[in-house]
This record gives sequence, structure tokens and C-alpha cells, in this order.
Amino acid sequence: MRTKSLKGRDFLAVTDFTREEIEIILDVAEDLKRERAKGIYHDDLLRSKTLFMIFYNQSLRTRNSFEAGMTQLGGHAHYLDPSKIYTPVMEGREVAYSTERVSDVARVLDRMGDAIAIRCYGDPVDWEYGAAHAMLREFARWTDIPVINMEDDIYHPCQGLADILTVKEKFGGFSGIKFVISWAYSPSVHKPRAVPQSAILYATMMGMDVTLTHPKGMDLAPDILSQCKEYSKATNGSFEIVHDFESAFEGAHVVYPKAWCATPLFQPPIGEASEEKTQEIFEKHKDWICTKKIMDLADKHAIYMHCLPADRGYEVANDVMDKTEGSGWTSVIFDQAENRLHGQNAVMTLVM
Ligand code: CP
Repeated sequence: MRTKSLKGRDFLAVTDFTREEIEIILDVAEDLKRERAKGIYHDDLLRSKTLFMIFYNQSLRTRNSFEAGMTQLGGHAHYLDPSKIYTPVMEGREVAYSTERVSDVARVLDRMGDAIAIRCYGDPVDWEYGAAHAMLREFARWTDIPVINMEDDIYHPCQGLADILTVKEKFGGFSGIKFVISWAYSPSVHKPRAVPQSAILYATMMGMDVTLTHPKGMDLAPDILSQCKEYSKATNGSFEIVHDFESAFEGAHVVYPKAWCATPLFQPPIGEASEEKTQEIFEKHKDWICTKKIMDLADKHAIYMHCLPADRGYEVANDVMDKTEGSGWTSVIFDQAENRLHGQNAVMTLVM
């Protein structure tokens, strides 16, 4: 199958791209990273271009990697706080002189800039699963310039790209790599599913041997799981779902334990709109914390991953997070965070 040009494409969902297209993005990311390390700068690639970034939620890594990336590529990233503009909302949710319909905002920004990046999940859409993703798609419907997903309630495709770029750097490829994504405890149940869903989609798309483990009731979305099964069949990888924390880690090359809620709050798939019920499940699984003892079950060259921010002392012990060098398994969280920059630079270069 001929690979379509990526120019002008939206970057909204992992599933909008083929494995070949993702491999092209990874290649460009590696080239840009390598060349920058040698002092070769590419500030001509997006010269004079503007990226509008709309953040409905807080961010350290995403905002700063996009801003730094646009500077490196010769353009400008423009930060927009939805509470300081007329908050972009879907048709039917407008409030006079306080909000503005997405279709209008999109068409205005389309006349001025070269791409729009959006982060939205959780409270701004009342935790209605899929509502934020639908809003990003609505932006894309009304613009000719690319729309980039900086995390919504279904996907975090830029984080997932940095994740697989990090795996590729550490292991040289994907075949035969046991990739474990695990739920982990947090005192906060307000945790979206976009990161684990994107991670398992990319990992199965790339043909890794993927284990997803979580307590019963913390299921990821059924359509995402079906897609993972299809990817793993097509790539000769494997995909299994288990409900045991310790055994999942045995022999793993990559471990990625983090909290998520099967909510909102809490349909689907938990089936009940109950924050209390989710909190109950969370509290029963406080022992789902990534400690040195758990890491010792993994392969001796295993890597510990987390998208950050991590809840230290809850999701993970300090001495796991901070073991970024030395022999045996290591934490690669800062390489992973840095790769947000390189992965996104590749995406922006190709789509803009
Ligand atoms: N991993 C991630 O998206 O980090 P931020 O929330 O800081 O952007």
C-alpha cells in the first residue's frame, strides 16, 4: 500500500495512521534529534509559521515541548488559555459573551496560523468519555490547517509516540519486546485513559508482546482493546489482559505502571456513573505500586516508563523513579520526557 503524504494531515488519533506512517515519523524524529545533538539546526523547517495551542488542562511537558519545538524549527507557538478567550464550546453549549462556538474559533485561527494544537479532557467536558475527542474532530472539520491532539479523553498520540521512540532507542526495535502496561494506585481517581490506551495501540501496532494488567473494573475502552487485538494479529506480536500485578512484570523488558480511571465518571466500561465506586476500587488496590521488588521480577535490562507527572509514593517508589543510571533495570522517564520534543518536532515538520 502506498503511504499517503503526511502534509496537511491532522494528528488526532493513533488509529488514523498506518504502521508505515508512524515509522516515517519515528525516522524523522531520530534524524532531528541526532542532528541537533551535532549542532545542526533546522530553524528553516517551519520558518514564519504559527502553532496555536489551546490548553483546557494544565501541562508541563506538553506545553514546553511544543513551544521549544516551534522555536527550534523556526516558528512560533502561541499559548491560548480558554478562560481568557471566549471559551470554545460545541454547538448547544454556548453561553452569551463567555463562550464561542468551535466552528467559529476554528475558522478564525485557520485564517491566521498554520496549525492548531488542543488539550482537553475531564472537567471541561464533565468527564463525558469521548466528548473532548469529538470537540477536537469538530475543530478539524472546520479548518484546512492541521489539528494536533495534545491529549484528549481517548488518545494522547504525542505521548505514545515519545514512548515508542524511547523503546526503539533503548532496544533497537520492537520485535520480541515484552511491553507491560499496568494500572497503579493513586489517591486521585481523576485520571484519564488516554495514555494507556495510546500506549497499547502503538505497542501492538509495532508488534511488541503486550501485557495489559489492571484490577477488575479498571478496563480500557472495548473498541481500543479490539483494535489492539487486530494490530497484534497483523504484526505477529501478542496481546493479553490479566488482573495480577506481580506476575505481569515477570520477564518484562518495558514496564509502564500508571493510574487511570475507567470512568466518567464511570461509564463505560465500568457501567456505573459513580465516582465513589471507582474510589472504592482504587482504595482496595493500594498495593499496586511499582517498587524495587516488583522491578526485580522484570528482565535485568528492563526499563521503567511513566508519562509524568507520577504520584511518587503511590504509583511508584522514589528509588524506582530515580534509578536513571547504573547496572540492571533503569528508569528512563527523563529520556521519555525529552522524546516528547523530538517526536512532536517530527509530527509538526511533516504535517505543517
Ligand atoms: N505527559 C504529559 O502529557 O505531561 P503534561 O501533562 O505535563 O503535559
